[in-house]
Amino acid sequence: MRYSDELVEEVRTRSNIVDVVSQYVKLQRRGSNYFGLCPFHNEKSPSFSVSPGKQIYYCFGCGAGGSVITFLMQYENYTFQEAMKTLADRAGIQLPEIEYSREAKAEADRKAVLLEINKKAARFYYAQLRSPQGEQGMHYLKGRGLSSEIMQKFGLGYAGKYNTSLYQYLKKEGYNDELLKESGLFSMDERRGVSDKFWNRVMFPIMDANSRVIGFGGRVMGDGKPKYLNSPETRIFDKSRNLYGLNIARSSRKKNLIICEGYMDVISMHQAGFNNAVASLGTALTSQQASLLKRYTDDVLIIYDMDGAGVRAALRAIPMLRTAGLRTKVVDLKPHKDPDEFIQALGREAFEERLEKAENSFLFEIRMLYEEYDMSDPQGKTDFFHKTAERLLRFEDEIERNSYVESVSRIYGISQEMLQQQIRKLAMKGTAVSYQEQREDRTSKRKREKVSGADQAQKLMLTWISNYPGILSQLKPYLKPEHFSNPLYREVAELLFSQLEKGEISPARIIDHFEDGETQTEVAGVFHARLELENPEAMQKALRDVVCSLRESSINTRIAEMPVNDLAGLQKLVQEKKELEQLRFQFPVIEINT
Ligand code: GTP
Ligand code: MN
Repeated sequence: MRYSDELVEEVRTRSNIVDVVSQYVKLQRRGSNYFGLCPFHNEKSPSFSVSPGKQIYYCFGCGAGGSVITFLMQYENYTFQEAMKTLADRAGIQLPEIEYSREAKAEADRKAVLLEINKKAARFYYAQLRSPQGEQGMHYLKGRGLSSEIMQKFGLGYAGKYNTSLYQYLKKEGYNDELLKESGLFSMDERRGVSDKFWNRVMFPIMDANSRVIGFGGRVMGDGKPKYLNSPETRIFDKSRNLYGLNIARSSRKKNLIICEGYMDVISMHQAGFNNAVASLGTALTSQQASLLKRYTDDVLIIYDMDGAGVRAALRAIPMLRTAGLRTKVVDLKPHKDPDEFIQALGREAFEERLEKAENSFLFEIRMLYEEYDMSDPQGKTDFFHKTAERLLRFEDEIERNSYVESVSRIYGISQEMLQQQIRKLAMKGTAVSYQEQREDRTSKRKREKVSGADQAQKLMLTWISNYPGILSQLKPYLKPEHFSNPLYREVAELLFSQLEKGEISPARIIDHFEDGETQTEVAGVFHARLELENPEAMQKALRDVVCSLRESSINTRIAEMPVNDLAGLQKLVQEKKELEQLRFQFPVIEINT
């Protein structure tokens, strides 16, 4: 479903970019623009600018940029539609309903009601924890070292001693049994009737990345069984596609995300300032969760329990993370069991040190392999050696593989020569299972290639036009969109020229013409490139040079593409070239006013 250009325009013009960005970034006015610390990379002095005139933002440090819509797409990881929806809601604009089939509509309604029930339950538990009846729960959580602030941040609650409190409350709110049953918060028994699933437990609401409550984990206070009780999967709660704490960690702006096993671990880490921690939901990490992580980061630290089960879980998670294109390291907490216990015992600095010392996940895998074999036995040694070579072969990139060969040979005292030989032998047998996904990751980075000189001139021209719209009408006799050879720049030029016809230049509108985030950022860069021209004469000369060079390369391109027998066409181009030489000598004085 695509919204019309008019609607996008309306939402944008009613969403002042300065107001919207200010909700996320502290901005200060400087001249006609606003500046702040860039939320898209770490920096100490502000290079992130927002232009109220152009209604766009741009970071001179990392090149992030776009319209108010792009901002939400980048910051919140929203799709274009999600960003539109958020801004429309904020501005009180009704977006047209997406055309649903009857069943799809019913399904959407049902999900909405289930979300509402979960939200009400979360509020109910939250209030109970803070009431006299919640004293025991409060005592327990305080005893585990949690501050009121962190309890509030994670919306912690308490399910009291009576096993029908929530049921009675939600009945009063008007929900029928069938819906309540579907919410997963109740047990239905033929004989005993309906009762709350959770009681006498401290409650951890589980939220999706957009902070909507989709389920709960409840921990028994003390040593009862089961220790944790989790909501069953429902229409809105898919354990394999969500991560505990992601709603907060996603905007932590740290260089990586930490994945651990427990709710308490996440909360402890956040309280100690590691607000980039998330956990899976009482199950092993899934490939969907790995992809979810990849939406927010390229680097993951695994902190699993330091026991056999934890190591096995890490060994299962690593290939999954690798396949999702994530670089992974494993944190060692010995002699402590989990992050919560470690932080309680040794504090945040010591924890930070362990994060810094995290082990490369491949070397971790090899080290675990090493522990499986009896190295005092020649057979054990040989088997370890073969298995290691097999693993190394999975790296397709030779440089990468060689650097691992070097590390492994150094750590385990195996000769590099022998390892390489064994790898070659295996390669010839064709047993390689490649880490193909890692390569894909690298090529996508390479896409951000540098612009060529000709592109540079075109970009500069567009920047000038957007900064000094007045020059466009004066340049019009000499410059046309088709003189821009770069397809993207040509499209931008066409939009600029047609806006000029209508008498109004709006860079933000042009950015939103492109729905793809990467393209939007590139276009924003065009409109926001810094201009450093000391005086009007230099500007005149630069304008002439750029117009002429655009036209010259446009002519050259057409000559190169022309069929050799098209004499008439060639003559026309020669004529054009003559005109261009003339223009070079008699370039009009362009009036530049800002
Ligand atoms: P604390 O003892 O409260 O510190 O728990 P923990 O965070 O150290 O949890 P543990 O390592 O025992 O378990 C990690 C995660 O596994 C928990 O956060 C739960 O999601 C899940 N889990 C633990 N015990 C149970 C259980 O008895 N049943 C279920 N379904 N899940 C559990
Ligand atoms: Mn624990």
